[in-house]
Amino acid sequence: MFAERVLSGMRPTGRLHLGHYHGVLKNWVKLQNEYPCLFFVADWHALTTHYDTPEIIEQNVWDMLVDWLAAGVDPVQATLFIQSRIPEHAELHLLLSMITPLGWLERVPSYKDQQEKLSDKDLGTYGFLGYPLLQSADILIYRASRVPVGEDQVPHVEFTRELARRFNHMYGREKDFETKAKAAVKKLGTKNAKLYQQLRTRYQEQGDSEALSAARELLEERQNLTLGDRERLFGYLEGVGRVILTEPQALLTEASRMPGLDGHKMSKSYNNTIELREDEVSVTKKIRTMPTDPARIKRSDPGDPEKCPVWQFHLIYSDKQRQEWVQKGCKSAGIGCLECKQPVIDAVLHEQKPMHERAQMYLDDPTLVRNIIADGCEKAQKLAQETLRDVKQVMGLNYD
Ligand code: TRP
Ligand code: SF4
Repeated sequence: MFAERVLSGMRPTGRLHLGHYHGVLKNWVKLQNEYPCLFFVADWHALTTHYDTPEIIEQNVWDMLVDWLAAGVDPVQATLFIQSRIPEHAELHLLLSMITPLGWLERVPSYKDQQEKLSDKDLGTYGFLGYPLLQSADILIYRASRVPVGEDQVPHVEFTRELARRFNHMYGREKDFETKAKAAVKKLGTKNAKLYQQLRTRYQEQGDSEALSAARELLEERQNLTLGDRERLFGYLEGVGRVILTEPQALLTEASRMPGLDGHKMSKSYNNTIELREDEVSVTKKIRTMPTDPARIKRSDPGDPEKCPVWQFHLIYSDKQRQEWVQKGCKSAGIGCLECKQPVIDAVLHEQKPMHERAQMYLDDPTLVRNIIADGCEKAQKLAQETLRDVKQVMGLNYD
């Protein structure tokens, strides 16, 4: 509704690997240059599935933050914080739970899927059922308009949109909405009020979406409106009531399927990862011992890159010229597998070098990370409090 704001979170359940880097973090680093961004450690979400091993959470929180910083997430540009330090998320979660139909939660696909997949854990808990609702509170409390996530998280963002709509529908209707909205239009000044009315008519009568964006832009530029008036003007524009909570959109991270060492998707549970800050000796050894096309038993046996996980790495790390070299050399047995792997080893080490360097600073002085988080939490909390104030007001909880 207001200026575009990006928010995303990650659960601190283990060391990050190159799959996280190519799939998520690289995208965050790009987004932080384009939008105001909030990135947070979803420690409460980690507890929904790891409530019986709380000891892993604390260390992972700080390790993960160092991983983010190592990957180039910049605390000057983006706001970094920890979910459980902002209790406003929990309060919003509670308030939203009042209007969340149980069926909506039970129908979220990850609910049954995860319960089946993690069948060694008892996930028949209230907290686990509420996972998507807690995620909605995370998003809505910052009025985030864009949420960069992987495909598996899209249903959660959809859920959040529906919940925001339900909330606005329920609490955005004031008795005297029309009157108040019209008064707010006047406050735009003669010229802008006229423009707003014209754009609104064009949108409502002809469905002209350009008119809608133009009107939204016009409102975004008016910094002197009160929050309530802003919400009314956004809602009046679209023919609904006040828009108190912003409907977010998933920003799909382009499916960069970072392969693992065995050719399957890189994932801790497949034990096929290279960690973001893994040391050089270990990286070299892991790639050297990667499986290749089983047809290449002897050096003189030709192979097929399509049947080899090393080729997947070349697709990510090599230019066209080197890819051709692999194709030809493999099919003609002109190159050996170790020879073929060397450029991949070099490329991975080259990618990790700046990450090690950045991380070192934070490992040498852990208070740096503590301070970044203290700062980020303070900023995030201010934003969260604004939204919560509005929500409490429309839900009848403003007694003072
Ligand atoms: N559920 C997300 C995941 O497992 C983490 C998360 C929690 C999140 N809250 C969020 C992501 C809010 C985006 C926005 O990856
Ligand atoms: Fe794989 Fe390269 Fe060996 Fe071919 S030459 S099997 S692509 S490692």
